[in-house]
Amino acid sequence: MINRKFLIAGNWKMNGMFDSISEVCKIDQYSKKLNCDLALCLPNTIIYKAHENISHEKLIIGAQNCHHEESGAFTGDISAKMLKNAGAKVIIVGHSERRQNYFENNELINRKATSVINSGLQVIICIGETEEEKNNGQTNDVVCSQLRNSIPVISNGENTVIAYEPIWAIGTGRIPSLKEIQGVHSQLRLLITEIKGTETANKMRILYGGSVKPNNAKDIFALEDVDGALVGGASLKSEDFLGIANLCP
Ligand code: PGA
Repeated sequence: MINRKFLIAGNWKMNGMFDSISEVCKIDQYSKKLNCDLALCLPNTIIYKAHENISHEKLIIGAQNCHHEESGAFTGDISAKMLKNAGAKVIIVGHSERRQNYFENNELINRKATSVINSGLQVIICIGETEEEKNNGQTNDVVCSQLRNSIPVISNGENTVIAYEPIWAIGTGRIPSLKEIQGVHSQLRLLITEIKGTETANKMRILYGGSVKPNNAKDIFALEDVDGALVGGASLKSEDFLGIANLCP
């Protein structure tokens, strides 16, 4: 059995004001007692304030998206380097809400992920199938094609984390069966082995995301190829987020 350190990453999406920093601080204080790694991917507007207020012992602050270029004439955009400057240590790319709402494809996500890594940050690359694809038995094909095409050449077990998030499970309270989750994760691990070799595949963390709550996390975390969670709704309240983090083996 290979020991990968669990990562519990929160994705606050478009939520959070300056007064939410108190919630970040509660998570920061408690996180020192945890065995797992902990990250909060916040809206860009509060990253620096969170960075200024945490202890920098365990919890790291992150962002939810970035532009693929470092700087330039891209009105309204923000680069990985700028987010790093504000205090981010990790950036999510390829979340299904961006793939769907902004038509981001694997090629663009690959470029964004490359830019994150080149900036010296860790990247969380999201992949996941729609409900229709699942019902058509296409889950493995879809997620493997997404991973193959969006993982950068420079990715390794330290700078890259994969998050499997079935789109139909996000914010719905529904999750795949435990057998299905393990099936997809082991398939992804096999693909990483094929692309990057066994050593990297053994190191690279694969998170599950989509309606992870304190009442279902324990069983998900017991699965062999699950190395943590990407948590949306339940990351907004410190009790729920820490309740999930506390269940890491
Ligand atoms: P959820 O979101 O935990 O609210 O389902 C997960 C995500 O979108 O990353």
